[in-house]
Amino acid sequence: MDDMVGASPAICGVFEKISKVAATEMPVLLTGETGTGKELTAQAIHARSVRKQGPFVPINCAAIPETLLESELFGHERGAFTGAVQQKKGKLEAAAGGTLFLDEVGDLLPSLQVKLLRFLQEGTFERVGGQETLHVDTRVIAATNVELKAAIDQNRFREDLYYRLGVLHIHLPPLRDRGEDVLLMAMVFLQQALAAMTHKTIRGFSIQAIDALRTHSWPGNVRELSNRVRRAVVMSEGEEITRQDLDLVGEDIHAADSLDSLRAAHQRIETELLVKALTFHRGNMSRVARDLKVSRSTLYRKLKQYELEKFTLSLAQPMAIPKTTRKSNGDASPSKRSPMMAEEPSIETSLQPAAQIL
Ligand SMILES: Nc1ncnc2c1ncn2[C@@H]1O[C@H](COP(=O)(O)OP(=O)(O)OP(=O)(O)O)[C@@H](O)[C@H]1O
Ligand SMILES: [Mg+2]
Repeated sequence: MDDMVGASPAICGVFEKISKVAATEMPVLLTGETGTGKELTAQAIHARSVRKQGPFVPINCAAIPETLLESELFGHERGAFTGAVQQKKGKLEAAAGGTLFLDEVGDLLPSLQVKLLRFLQEGTFERVGGQETLHVDTRVIAATNVELKAAIDQNRFREDLYYRLGVLHIHLPPLRDRGEDVLLMAMVFLQQALAAMTHKTIRGFSIQAIDALRTHSWPGNVRELSNRVRRAVVMSEGEEITRQDLDLVGEDIHAADSLDSLRAAHQRIETELLVKALTFHRGNMSRVARDLKVSRSTLYRKLKQYELEKFTLSLAQPMAIPKTTRKSNGDASPSKRSPMMAEEPSIETSLQPAAQIL
């Protein structure tokens, strides 16, 4: 469930860091724009840590009213405030033996920042209205999509807490910086959506849809991509997901009325077909060559021409983070294949017609 898709250098760097920080007990700070996968990353760290049998408890500091947050986080004693009819454990205790995911940590009130800092330094805290000092074995992973440095400058976030939280820091890159991961993820999300909708027979994305996926700037990052693909599967009426299905009309830089030279159009189509075939066949050259009806040597020449060799290599690598955790033995063999590759549909397109144009 927590498998993260990606093969770009940017996300592979993240995968490496996840494996490394999973092997420690220190707090982790996750940063990144909305929808880049901070929560998924927190889950991945937990699932690869020695705490994986323990609970993973998320709490969103921005979604809980300030007056309730302290009690939600640290719990309260009976009679601590009006309505506190019985003692209640907070999320910190609920996560004992596991991981507390403190989302939107930048929204924590200064008084709670002090309490959190003390917990991180000494492992101790008191429930609201409680006298007893409690100890709990909980690992903290925090996340923010705002610049905490700016909050520190404005005295809204404690610098000492920032440094304590951020010893291990993972930044999730925006989707627009992950190159062909967009297509890879789009294919995976498509297969996932199709698995839930058995009456649809969709073979893949149209060339224009692939173009739109590659050129859109993805302000909502992976969440936006996932939502658009799921929506497209519902809306689609044909065998291919179109740009319209993705609701990315009007963003195509190769709009019908813009003039491409014949050579540029030819190269664009070839690139798109190659990416499509490579993604479908996970870089399996024989299958790609067979589907595109070219020889393997022609295929290699084309890949070189369009600088797709790196993309090919990345596809042959595991798309998910290896399940190994504490010991890094350098074995990066895929422990689990993405469902998108289980059945490999044939791409009924060929390089041949395009090649004949010139
Ligand atoms: N690398 C990835 N592979 C597959 N799915 C991903 C990946 N990254 C994110 N997702 C999916 O994208 C969606 C958003 O991810 P997530 O909730 O972790 O983002 P976030 O950074 O916490 O966003 P926000 O800041 O808005 O809370 C989720 O459905 C998640 O499963
Ligand atoms: Mg989140």
